[in-house]
Amino acid sequence: MIISGKAIKAAVIGDPISHSLSPQIHNYWLEQNKIDGVYIALKIHPEDLQDCVQSLVKMGFAGFNVTLPHKEEIFKICQRKSKSAEFCKAVNTVIITSEGELFGHNSDVDGFINNLKENAQDFDLKDKIAFVIGAGGAARAAIYGLIKEGVRKIYITNRNEKKAIDLIADFNSKANIVLEFLNQIEFEERLKECDLLVNTTSLGMENQPPLLINLDFLPKSAIVYDIVYKPLMTELLSNAQNRGNKIVTGIGMLLHQAVVGFEAWFKVKPEIDQSIKKQIS
Ligand code: ATR
Repeated sequence: MIISGKAIKAAVIGDPISHSLSPQIHNYWLEQNKIDGVYIALKIHPEDLQDCVQSLVKMGFAGFNVTLPHKEEIFKICQRKSKSAEFCKAVNTVIITSEGELFGHNSDVDGFINNLKENAQDFDLKDKIAFVIGAGGAARAAIYGLIKEGVRKIYITNRNEKKAIDLIADFNSKANIVLEFLNQIEFEERLKECDLLVNTTSLGMENQPPLLINLDFLPKSAIVYDIVYKPLMTELLSNAQNRGNKIVTGIGMLLHQAVVGFEAWFKVKPEIDQSIKKQIS
């Protein structure tokens, strides 16, 4: 690994941060591509965020990833933002420009869509009907991605109805798409119209309750996509696979979102190979 005095520097900031898989991913790609660069994890307390970000700018970092709890706060600090960041109201990737400005992007949108495209190559989202479980930050990224790809309609269900209604109102004011809230029973019944079912909640994740959803009405042709990647095979995915649906796991979303920052900072598009998939799953 080459780390010279001219090394390109990038980081991930969050609190906690020790669990982050991003250093492993980016440093694997740096080594694979023989790039003179380094990517480190930095634990930053919320009250120190402004100062620390200014320090990264002064120290000549090319940019950084942002994880909990800073995604919304960084959104406010960035001088310029991509459309994905604006729709998600959160930033997970920052590019520091040559003028020292912060350009904020949300690469979960790219990650969500590119993972689906990689794993369901014949599936065209245009004019399809998507069913989304959840109304948090990940749901916003998934929904904006689906809108960009031209889906016709999105049904949303969420434990907290108000949060989903607010999300729908926000997207309706910005995009030309039919978004509709359904309670879980209605959602399960309407699944007969579904082309793509997505879980964006943390349900099914290690140490979380399982996602309990009745798939009886889901057509066998529908794709089931879970963004949870620990475990890779969630109960939702295993139920879907057992009844004959095609499934998409969440690990690729993490890798595809990382590609965007890596390419912006280190100027090389990294490859998502079997080795990196294995290392982080
Ligand atoms: P993220 O940025 O990862 O999406 P988030 O914004 O906190 O995280 O959103 C978490 C999502 O998981 C929400 O849709 C949340 O539902 P609520 O809006 O009702 O809180 C959902 N979620 C988390 N734990 C849940 C649980 N035990 N039961 C149902 N939904 C849950």
